[in-house]
Amino acid sequence: CGIVGYIGKREAYPIIIKGLKRLEYRGYDSAGIALYDGNNIKLCKTKGKVADLEQKIQQEISTDGTLGIGHTRWATHGVPNDVNSHPHYSNSGNLVIIHNGIIENYDALKQELIKRGYSFKSDTDTEVLVNLIEDVMKQEHIKLGKAVQVALNQVVGAYAIAVFDKNKPNEIVVARLGSPLAIGVGDDEFFIASDASPFIEYTKNAIYLEDEEMAIVRRGKDVKIRKIKDDSLVDPYMQELKLNLEQIEKGGYEHFMLKEIYEQPRAILDTFRGRLKTDQAIIKMVGVEDNMKKFLNANRIIIVACGTSWHAGLVAEYIFEDLARVPVEVEYASEFRYRNPVITENDIVIAISQSGETADTLAAIKLAKSKGAFVFGVCNVVGSSIARETDAGAYTHAGPEIGVASTKAFTTQITVLTLMALRLARAKGTISSSDYRHHLIELELIPEKVEKALQSDNNVKAIANIYKDAKNCLYLGRGYNFPVALEGALKLKEISYIHAEGYPAAEMKHGPIALIDENMPIVVIATKKGHYEKVVSNIQEIKSRKGKIIGVVTEGDTHVKELADHVIEIPETLESLSPLLTTIPLQLLSYHIAVMLGKNVDQPRNLAKSVTVE
Ligand code: G6P
Repeated sequence: CGIVGYIGKREAYPIIIKGLKRLEYRGYDSAGIALYDGNNIKLCKTKGKVADLEQKIQQEISTDGTLGIGHTRWATHGVPNDVNSHPHYSNSGNLVIIHNGIIENYDALKQELIKRGYSFKSDTDTEVLVNLIEDVMKQEHIKLGKAVQVALNQVVGAYAIAVFDKNKPNEIVVARLGSPLAIGVGDDEFFIASDASPFIEYTKNAIYLEDEEMAIVRRGKDVKIRKIKDDSLVDPYMQELKLNLEQIEKGGYEHFMLKEIYEQPRAILDTFRGRLKTDQAIIKMVGVEDNMKKFLNANRIIIVACGTSWHAGLVAEYIFEDLARVPVEVEYASEFRYRNPVITENDIVIAISQSGETADTLAAIKLAKSKGAFVFGVCNVVGSSIARETDAGAYTHAGPEIGVASTKAFTTQITVLTLMALRLARAKGTISSSDYRHHLIELELIPEKVEKALQSDNNVKAIANIYKDAKNCLYLGRGYNFPVALEGALKLKEISYIHAEGYPAAEMKHGPIALIDENMPIVVIATKKGHYEKVVSNIQEIKSRKGKIIGVVTEGDTHVKELADHVIEIPETLESLSPLLTTIPLQLLSYHIAVMLGKNVDQPRNLAKSVTVE
């Protein structure tokens, strides 16, 4: 979910609506707003997107007021409908709250409140929380800020909340545990949001709340931050935002996803800029240099991540083992955290996350740290929870990724992990100096080769047009390109809702081959280096079962061209770097199919970009 709030001298409504649109990547199954106009709270909420909310607001409420909060939801407790949408009132109607997260013990708290005469309109855990706060205020005769603190000490779960009291309309109380919350500090005004994007055109000064902190923002006053547990005051740490407006707008592209696909040459370049010095044969990454001893002594590397980031982890497994000769395990963070894994002080855990907020990945990091492992983060969002929780790290410099289906985050993650593997291989002496140099030279050429791979766009679009009505699709690859096959299938599933599976090409004969008939499109990554002949044999097996073959091949390939129904060419590179290129046409294929099917490419159903619940 995404939350936004404003208190100051301007009209709150336009700020909040625009902010909610920027946060829709966090969830978009319902939205709502509450404004205070000096006398009354005006609340409007609806199932659907922020655009639907805007329409409803025009019909239902006036939009004046200099205090307000808004919410865009990704449903956890309760189906997406008008009633379950946020904000939620307390029973008296004096308090209004928005919440991102999950209150795990909400049912016990709810039963207790029902006994005390409270009633509930929605199925949400959030409505329980706002009534708990109200109950504390009444029982203990205390003000909102204090009551929020007392209530949160009874809560088990995760939250970022913003709440205000109609009877004290000069302040908003916010708190965080597990879900992000940023406070923008302007001139006599405050902005509240799940990330800084809603307020970058108003202020460059932001405070990020830490876990278990709460803050009271008062019109015309300073912000006060306290620890929820022991009430101690915390010195606000103000950061200057580097984000600019252009980065979070579509810039002429029809969708964010397409813009982000096309940004990859630049994003990859930005990611190795300053780190890769080919002429001196040097890779320099501060987080790695500072901890080189730990990396050299590591018995193994465990990579934890979710979704697309997990696929980047799988690519990293190949490259770390291949070049740096260190054993690597790649785990879904959600499994790792609950399966009592064997972790020792000689393990290095690498956590990969675009958003830096994924709840399962964050929990996996905490578990690894508690067992004494050194945890290294690979995040895109600067200052995110994971970036702060890890012992060291390296940022990807993809820039804000807004399309829910991850594209440039994936290729920049692979870029960072490749740099790390090469650096480590060099330090360990597991790579020859000529091979090392060769890698650096090839890596430096990747941005222009990605540019070239993007030129396949029209060809890919024509292929998309032929297969857009397929019900199923298989993606096959071997070695370094097996994870790319998984990622290609995930992209198609996510945005076009066509069932797709990624498989190691050779495993096909142990199951998926049964699915192949003349209606089945099969995307096969068959680049020149890396088991080429073997993949060609797999293609023959598909052909004899009449499957439709879409080959991703190296420029100038003639062999696969003869066998396949279609080919998409990409420039030649080292096998270890090929995922950075083979991924490109697969992103474009899923994009075009989804557009042709009329799907919402940037905001596919049921998904959210940043999943801050487990
Ligand atoms: C969500 C997104 C995916 C993403 C995954 C992990 O499911 O829709 O695109 O790969 O979360 O997110 P992270 O921010 O940790 O990389």
